[in-house]
Amino acid sequence: MNNHELVLVLDFGGQYNQLIARRVREAKVYCEVLPHDADLATIINKNPKGIIFTGGPSIAYEDDAPSVDHKIFELGIPVLGICYGAQLTAHLLGGKLEAAANREYGKKELEVALDHPLFSKISQQTTCWMSHTYHVTSLPENYKIIAKTNHCPVAAFANDQEKIYGFQFHPEVVHTPEGTKMLQNFLYEICECKGDWVMSNFVENSIKKLRNQIGDKKVLCALSGGVDSSVAAMLVHKAIGHQLTCIFVDNGLLRKNEGDMVEKVFTEQFDLNLIRVNAQDLFLKKLEGITDPETKRKNIGETFIRVFEAEAEKLDGIELLVQGTIYPDVIESGSAHAAVIKSHHNVGGLPEDMKFTSVIEPLRDLFKDEVREVGREIGLPSHVVDRQPFPGPGLAIRIIGDITKEKLAILREADWIYRAEIKKAGLQKKIWQYFAVLTGIKTVGVMGDERTYNYTIGLRGVTSLDGMTADWARIPYPTLETISTRIVNEVKNINRIVYDITSKPPSTIEWE
Ligand code: XMP
Repeated sequence: MNNHELVLVLDFGGQYNQLIARRVREAKVYCEVLPHDADLATIINKNPKGIIFTGGPSIAYEDDAPSVDHKIFELGIPVLGICYGAQLTAHLLGGKLEAAANREYGKKELEVALDHPLFSKISQQTTCWMSHTYHVTSLPENYKIIAKTNHCPVAAFANDQEKIYGFQFHPEVVHTPEGTKMLQNFLYEICECKGDWVMSNFVENSIKKLRNQIGDKKVLCALSGGVDSSVAAMLVHKAIGHQLTCIFVDNGLLRKNEGDMVEKVFTEQFDLNLIRVNAQDLFLKKLEGITDPETKRKNIGETFIRVFEAEAEKLDGIELLVQGTIYPDVIESGSAHAAVIKSHHNVGGLPEDMKFTSVIEPLRDLFKDEVREVGREIGLPSHVVDRQPFPGPGLAIRIIGDITKEKLAILREADWIYRAEIKKAGLQKKIWQYFAVLTGIKTVGVMGDERTYNYTIGLRGVTSLDGMTADWARIPYPTLETISTRIVNEVKNINRIVYDITSKPPSTIEWE
């Protein structure tokens, strides 16, 4: 994508780092995240219009603290340090840091110097989000303070000659309401960006690029119906039409009508070469009697691979494979992973020994929101593009205990009602992910004059940014009431509904 103007985000390990990059992209400037120790030649090669240092958990003056090549400040490229990035900048250039008496955490009133371009069109008193223990107590020579809070005398600093800046607060989070504007000021007022990162350009360029890359070769794609694989497949289809074949493995663990919907959209609406493999019975067999969540995931992942392989073998002359890798996957695979809480078997996880000359990843540079925008741009319907996250192992990890056809049918109906009512209440865009769970619990109830002994459905609904952390969604009681009444009345074998009111952590979003 180096035909675009570009800003680099150097990653120091803070929790909001991807968010900074997303904000820059939202401001229509293409940016890439690199590890903080990327070498200077790589940085210069990318020809960035600006560089942003992220926050991070370290203490800048300690020996093993993550740092940068000092020469980065001499390139004449504007630099904005955020939180740790600001402290590091001040420290490396001769300023002083100290531990604050108290950790400054939360929303703070920020008083800004209005005549500075970084704060152009910002209120003089504005709110910012602080989260730090160390702060700058003395600035390097020729630096000035451009914003302060009650507890933080150097909340923002600048050296306008060198174009080097620091924010002690986090402009990228929503708790800094004018933060997006401040980042835009950095990009447009300081770095003099023009804003050429728009998805219509992306679509046009990537179709051209794909045509060049693929030529007259044949291409295969595993289509799951999820946002990433759908958009990736459609983009490639737009570029090369019937040279692309998609394999859609129906594992029988999808939600109500989903398999048919996928088939319909891609074959009827877009005339994509789609092979639907109805492997429902095979998957059920491989899951028979299995209750352990990780074993379920493993068996589903393996079965998927075997089915996909068998289908691919029937096709002749395929050389390339499309994968729906997106930018967060690229960034995350470059960093050490935390402990495996749940192994995620995605459709993308194909065996390494499959015989393809190479892999095409048309969405490798995009964040999820951008993938959705591209999907809209190329005409995919909203029910595909705005689809909520759905785990690869599907309903299998939403049935606690062993999986049977009957349980799948019960869960599908309950989930269908839940989703319909959320939509009816106009909440579907406010809740990040919502679904029903068939708990393994049977309890006593009474219906008419009869005692019942039936299953309990758990309803899960969460708000989240990226699924890493989540809060339970405050669904209004009347909506919950309708959902509960409808499920119990309309779905056989259910006599109790519970709503999950735990956040992540300590829970996870899925129950298994
Ligand atoms: P958890 O349950 O780990 O879920 O809080 C976080 C997000 O990941 C999804 N998820 C999965 N996605 N394969 C997937 O492709 C999986 O095995 C899997 N497990 C959880 C989950 O739906 C949520 O969006």
